[in-house]
Amino acid sequence: MDGKFRIRSIRRCDALIIGAGGAGLRTAVEILVKRPEATILAVTKVSSPQKSHTTTAQGGFAAVNPNDPYDRPIYHMFDTWKGSDCSADQNVIKKVVESAWEQTLWLEHHGLHFTRNEEGRVSRRTFGGHTLDFGKGPSAFRAVFEADRTGKGIMDTVWGESLKRKVSFINQSIATELIIKDGRCLGAVIFEEPKGEFTAVLAKATIISTGGLGQVYKITTNCRQNTGDGLALVLREGLPVMDLEAVQFHPTGIVGPGILASEALRGEGGVLLNKNMERFMERYAPKAKDLAPRDVVSRSIEIEIREGRGVMSSDFNLPHVWLDIRHLSDYVHDVKLPEVTSFFSRFAGINPKKDLCPVRPTCHYQMGGIPTNEFGEAQRDADRVVPGLYAVGEAAAASLHGFNRLGTNSLVELFTMGKFVGDRVAEYIRESDDPGDLPKASGEKTFSLFSKYFGAKGAENLWEIRMAMRELMTDKVGVFRNEKDLDEAIEQLRELDERSEHIRMSGSSLLMNQELIDRWELDNLLTVAMVIAQCAKARRESRGAHSREDYPERKDEFNYHTLAYMQEYGKVTLGKRPIDMSIFEEKGEHSEYFDFMARRY
Ligand code: FUM
Repeated sequence: MDGKFRIRSIRRCDALIIGAGGAGLRTAVEILVKRPEATILAVTKVSSPQKSHTTTAQGGFAAVNPNDPYDRPIYHMFDTWKGSDCSADQNVIKKVVESAWEQTLWLEHHGLHFTRNEEGRVSRRTFGGHTLDFGKGPSAFRAVFEADRTGKGIMDTVWGESLKRKVSFINQSIATELIIKDGRCLGAVIFEEPKGEFTAVLAKATIISTGGLGQVYKITTNCRQNTGDGLALVLREGLPVMDLEAVQFHPTGIVGPGILASEALRGEGGVLLNKNMERFMERYAPKAKDLAPRDVVSRSIEIEIREGRGVMSSDFNLPHVWLDIRHLSDYVHDVKLPEVTSFFSRFAGINPKKDLCPVRPTCHYQMGGIPTNEFGEAQRDADRVVPGLYAVGEAAAASLHGFNRLGTNSLVELFTMGKFVGDRVAEYIRESDDPGDLPKASGEKTFSLFSKYFGAKGAENLWEIRMAMRELMTDKVGVFRNEKDLDEAIEQLRELDERSEHIRMSGSSLLMNQELIDRWELDNLLTVAMVIAQCAKARRESRGAHSREDYPERKDEFNYHTLAYMQEYGKVTLGKRPIDMSIFEEKGEHSEYFDFMARRY
């Protein structure tokens, strides 16, 4: 092996956090609340934690105020269960929803400025699928927010707390390999770009919080760094990912790149129109209309476009529908949603106070991820955890969202689960032994991967392959899927992976070599894309955001979570994890609302 490939230093800590966004930092803070003497190292791929994708979250944080005269946590639980297409885990739903308000207060007490109404009370807005009285009542106004920068408010708060409590950060660095010995995770190998060096971090607990994989798709709301790194990391270790076929397409991406136009725009009264200026959602969801859950609205938009009622954008050569927010007050445009309305002028060159806004579905979120139990302990299979390994945030699937997530349930999930994972890790580091010496083989997987990158010959272009994969996934593994497209996608992904072996790197330095990071990301993207496509092919039914034209109904035989393993490219092995139905099974008050049900809105 080339002499430059060696572990230069070994660092030790109690907890290693891989991915320093909202979920990772909330976990770190909770560990330190419980064990102030704990040592925590947080690694982030970006130049500062404040560049994490959490910062871009716009709309809100779902939490029922216990003093609300109309809303109740049980309604939020029901909406989440129904919204998930009866595929979320009820133990997790209960735990997250019941602690949501306490976590709202935590944020408020630690400095987040929730937007307040004229009476000085915390404002609330509504999002799709959130209702009162088990769907029989009107929309529930249960999302608290900081204008349309709720994610930024959360990041400011947890980052400040992390600094105050002395979390150490390693910026612009990636975790390339988990250190696992006798089944226990002992840390990870980190490649530090600014030094061009490999560091082994030995930790009692390792927490993966690397966020999403939206860059698998061409049109996405996701930041450039969301390349499925944490998922590829566990897959390389022979561990599973769960429900990767459940990819969320947000209905209102700004036409072109797909930048998020918050659902809050519809929550505040915006409506969708087709080219005939018809409010088409009335046909697809007669009661909820524009505030149906995202899977329903995205499919409706796609159908409108397919049936010729879309509008062609000559700027982007892409069909779209309109979002009409012209009638919203200046207060909504300028105070409640200032950033998102300004995005339309910046990215689409229009004035949303006067013009119709062009929107279409855009990849937004992955409901699946690294399977964990309700404490965030990563699972080896449906029954066993990997001691010392945890996952939280979008990289994890506990699963609150099942096959379709309701708007504002991601921030509440990352925050509450961050707290619970922090609690569990604090206990674990008290009880567990130190990791001991660095296992001999540490780094070998990384070094053979990086040697392969630097040793490759050929004229293939990294960016052409990355873009071809993104287009392929958007065309064939998008809002609607079918067997033929999925077969073609799987075949073409194999070809792209084969082509990627022939990318010649232009330099051989390890120091600040962005091309090296791009090459590694391409492997991660191709890995998760293949798993998405194969899981989507295997699930011959439609459930939540996974919509098969050739199998349009949900089927009881698929009432389970998909576990997927892939160590050799394209060879995916599948397993199952049961859906937790504990609210229904415990037969308590209102348990009858937590059985499998048809979804109508
Ligand atoms: O539309 C939005 O503001 C997105 C919110 C979310 O994904 O929860």
